[in-house]
Amino acid sequence: RCQAVIFDLDGVLTDTAHTHYQAWKRLADEIGVPFDHQINERLKGVDRMSSLEIILERSQRQYSTAEKQQLAARKNQYYVSAISQFGPDDLFPGVAKLLRDLRQAGIRIGLASASRNAPLLLQRLGIAAAFDHVADPAAVAFPKPAPDIFLAAAQALAVPAEACIGVEDAVAGIQAIKRAGMAAIGIGEPAQLVDADRVLATIADFDIHQLIAF
Ligand code: G6P
Ligand code: MG
Repeated sequence: RCQAVIFDLDGVLTDTAHTHYQAWKRLADEIGVPFDHQINERLKGVDRMSSLEIILERSQRQYSTAEKQQLAARKNQYYVSAISQFGPDDLFPGVAKLLRDLRQAGIRIGLASASRNAPLLLQRLGIAAAFDHVADPAAVAFPKPAPDIFLAAAQALAVPAEACIGVEDAVAGIQAIKRAGMAAIGIGEPAQLVDADRVLATIADFDIHQLIAF
């Protein structure tokens, strides 16, 4: 029986893919590196420095580690100022009700986001208090598709992995959930999220009654 649901944040609870895109695009334009929506797809669920490495694949010149850190910090400034404008209206439809229903059903709620900005974003969205635990991506050894962050969340919630459901929109995230030994619900396209146990078009399709039997 399901005792906990562990959510990804970006692309599952709110649409930040475009916000990340705009911040990376501004940086890419500034340093003269081509960047488009197709490359942006590869950044979903991928941590900040790995995202930068993907963008710099098209760069004419090499950057030192210190320079890369500065570039990533600059992109993050753009991103933080954008999400600082977010509010509860930026939640995907159905999220606030889903979190309330899970709490009422006694199911523990965790967050397993690769984003260092997750606590700020949860606060802006008005759902920080809904989570029993927010896993710290800086505290785990390996990023998604490694299972580490989902396992860290389950451990903090004191729920065995096999009683957890993970919810993800990225291929790397679904892999992380499966490697953690959890049931995986994908949000997006079944053709893309092939390893998921079930794929929903949007988080609004998440049926808590089906889930408890999952
Ligand atoms: C999520 C997003 C990625 C983003 C990553 C790190 O996984 O899907 O696009 O790169 O978080 O976000 P951060 O806020 O730490 O730069
Ligand atoms: Mg995501």
